[in-house]
This record gives sequence, C-alpha cells and structure tokens, in this order.
Amino acid sequence: MTRSRILGTGSYLPAGLLTNFDLEKRMDTTDAWIRERTGIERRHIVAPGETTVDMAEHAARAALTAAGRAAREVDLIIVGTCTPDLIFPNCGVMLQGRLGNLGCPALSVEAACSGFIYALSLADKFIRAGESKLALVVGAESLSKLTNMNDRGTAILFGDGAGAVLLGPAAEPGILSTHLHADGSHLELLRCTGGVSAGFHPEGDYIKMAGSEVFKIAVNMLGRAVDEALEANQLGREALTWLVPHQANIRIIQATAKKLGMSMDRVIVTVADHGNTSSASVPLALDVGVRDGRIKRGDLLLLEAFGGGFTWGSALVRY
Ligand code: COA
Repeated sequence: MTRSRILGTGSYLPAGLLTNFDLEKRMDTTDAWIRERTGIERRHIVAPGETTVDMAEHAARAALTAAGRAAREVDLIIVGTCTPDLIFPNCGVMLQGRLGNLGCPALSVEAACSGFIYALSLADKFIRAGESKLALVVGAESLSKLTNMNDRGTAILFGDGAGAVLLGPAAEPGILSTHLHADGSHLELLRCTGGVSAGFHPEGDYIKMAGSEVFKIAVNMLGRAVDEALEANQLGREALTWLVPHQANIRIIQATAKKLGMSMDRVIVTVADHGNTSSASVPLALDVGVRDGRIKRGDLLLLEAFGGGFTWGSALVRY
C-alpha cells in the first residue's frame, strides 16, 4: 500500500518583532511574568499589507526547494489557517494561484491551532488513496490581526508565521499515523467573537480565552493524544527521537514531555521566539529542527497540537 513521507520542509517568519518589553509599555504586565508563565520572549508580527497567503507562499517555496521539486508538480494544496486573507477564495486556492500549478484541488482547513495536523492527516489520506502524488501542506497565520492588544490575557501569547511540508508517496511509511479529535462543547472557553453569519462587531472581533481552564484541558487532552499515538503503533515512549509540539506555552510543552518521560533536550521548542502561531507552530518548529540539524532522516517524531474548538490531534512521523 502506498504511504506518504515528508520530502521537504520550509517556514517563514515576518521581520517585525514584538518583545515582552514592548508589551510592558502597552499594558499591565512584565517581561518576567510572561517568561515565567508562558516561556515567550518575543513574537513575529506581519508588516502592514503582509498577509497569511504571503507567508504561506514563502514557506511553501522553501519546502519545495528543500525537496528539490517544482511547484508545477504539486497536485494537492491544503492550508491550515484560522486567519485567511479573505472569506473566499480560500487560502489554498490563493496559494495555488501564486504557485501557478493551476487545476489541482486546493483547500483550507479551519481547526484553529490544530489546523496543520488536520491538514497533514488529510493530505496523507489523499496520498494513501492514490489521489495525490505531491501534496503541499501549510500552516499559516496572522494571529496578530485577531488579537486585542489591550487584553493582557491574549496579547502576550500570539504571533504570526508560516510553516510547510511537501508530502510524497513512499514504499516505507513516513507518516505512520495521524489521530484527530474535536469537542465542540467548550465554545465559551476559546473563540473569536465575530463571523459572517453570526455578525461582526463594529468595535472589532478578537480572540477571547479563559486561559487557565484552556491550559488544564490542553494538558489533559495532549497527554491522552500522545498515549493514543504510541499505542496505535505499538511503540513505547523510548522509541521517540523528538517531540515536536504545538508551541502555546512552555509549561504545557513540559507537561507533555514529562508524560512521555522525555527530557527537554529531545523537544523542539520555539515558543520563546515565535509565541503561539496557531496552525503555523508545529511546521515552523519542525523546519527549525530540520534546518539546524537536530532532526535527521530516520528519526521518529511525535507532532501534536491543541486548539480552539476544541480540536486536537497527533501525527507520528518517521522523518
Ligand atoms: N501579566 C501579568 N499578570 C497577568 C497577566 C499578564 N499578562 N495575565 C494574567 N495575569 C494575572 C491574572 O490577572 C491573575 O491575577 P490574580 O491572581 O490577581 O487574579 C494571575 O495573573 C494568574 O492568572 P491566570 O490566568 O490564572 O494565569 P495562568 O498561569 O493560567 O497564565 C496563561 C495565563 C494565559 C498564560 C495560561 O493560562 C495559558 O497559557 N493558557 C493556555 C493558553 C493556550 O494554550 N491557548 C491556546 C490553545 S492553542
């Protein structure tokens, strides 16, 4: 049976930086509090006029270059994002227009911070089914556009960026398994306040979050998700080379690593420099680990994410 593997990775971070010291000047917070409670020191912020699709294109082209493949060969594009440029066309289609590989299916998936894991799982299934031979999977977000810069409970967390992988068929499995979950009964704990049919608010629509409740549920669900991934593959925790987690909060990452019995030097951590970039966070961390040489071919990686909805999931990947 055909399986899929990662042929190349890429990422992009906008040049603008928002540090904890910048936030200290705007609101009642401190660099020390933010670092201690979240592990975040700075986040990248899009320039005026720079969009999610702009960042997705940079990341996608970097993944294509890393894999030595041309954009015209891509026959499926899936973009995970909750901050699309427009309501429609979707970001996948807009990215396709930029890359010029017209005609192939292109879509975006909205699963908040789990968007990339959802997109990766879908692309893997297209390849396994023989429907795709070269799939571009992207996570890209302009979360700064959805963040109320007067709300210290959220403004300290979120940043912008994009990450991408190119998936192709392989005899030996690269994507060993993916597991996706959702629980739509906690809308009030994490959401963006406006939308097309619910209506937009004239004063703006922003992320609203009950941080400590979300924190507890995230730790619990991610703990279960990593167990599920290992059990489904009949693997023990010691088989893992790297944990590549969603970068929401260093304390959530530490709790998941502890659950796996992994020391933090086997975890790819970018949260200090990127903040929480939602769908972009896992592919960004993956690309950082690949490019700095820590993640090598043959390594066993556990990717996981948790986000608004709630949505969560994992991917066990032989790189
Ligand atoms: N600076 C200083 N103090 C702050 C603050 C800030 N930016 N934000 C909150 N506080 C205060 C609170 O008002 C509260 O004060 P009080 O004790 O006097 O009432 C105190 O710090 C503790 O607040 P709490 O919300 O319990 O803090 P916390 O340890 O849970 O940290 C988050 C807050 C948001 C950092 C943390 O809950 C978190 O990361 N949650 C999960 C976020 C997440 O993963 N979201 C996305 C899912 S993808």
